[in-house]
Amino acid sequence: AQIFQAEFIKSSVRTEDCPSDGLPEFALVGRSNVGKSSLLNSIVRRKKLALTSKKPGKTQCINHFKVNDSWYLVDLPGYGYGFNALVRFNHARILYRYASAPQELRTDWNKFTKDYFLNRLTLVSVFLLIDASIPAKKIDLEYASWLGQNQVPMTLIFTKCDKRKKKKNGGKRPEENVKEFQELIRDFFETAPPWIMTSGVTNQGRDEMLLHMAQLRNY
Ligand code: GTP
Ligand code: MG
Repeated sequence: AQIFQAEFIKSSVRTEDCPSDGLPEFALVGRSNVGKSSLLNSIVRRKKLALTSKKPGKTQCINHFKVNDSWYLVDLPGYGYGFNALVRFNHARILYRYASAPQELRTDWNKFTKDYFLNRLTLVSVFLLIDASIPAKKIDLEYASWLGQNQVPMTLIFTKCDKRKKKKNGGKRPEENVKEFQELIRDFFETAPPWIMTSGVTNQGRDEMLLHMAQLRNY
């Protein structure tokens, strides 16, 4: 599988505003800072196509990137980070309304992406990104559970697999964190979702992801 072309098409804030040419798409979702934009860049081999940042909350809309003129990669805002999506779309009003109610803000953010997952007909698979350098987080388990319950087709993509184990991160190797995560979500699915270990730094898993997407597109 080769990438000969990749371009940014548009940012949308609602499912209805997404491209309407009917091409298949794969959406990258996961906690803020998990490496969604970095992975997208690694897949298409373009360092700065999707903007990345050390600070969480960089990506704020549904961003469509067209690949090889025939399918889309979709970069989504991260979850699990209070000051997020809607804040910047609707700055003053939301800031004022939600200043003391972060929980409510998160609920609204969930509506925004969950509507996309449930109603976007051309969505082939959601790629749920999980940081393999740290132990499972509750919010990731909740997200996996929600996708399972709603029968949204998904693939588990473990990120940052290049990172060495660190005491402050639980002292486990990426392989161990991956195995634990899979055990924790087993009951959420009838059949275990496919999974791939990746790194946006070493490009680990890139070919496997391209092959996986090609197979899904040809079903
Ligand atoms: P939001 O847009 O804020 O939701 O974040 P994101 O998920 O798009 O994360 P992004 O790609 O911006 O990366 C966040 C940080 O993690 C950056 O500092 C990246 O350099 C770093 N990072 C991303 N992927 C990897 C990886 O595979 N390995 C390592 N070591 N660092 C990574
Ligand atoms: Mg991003």
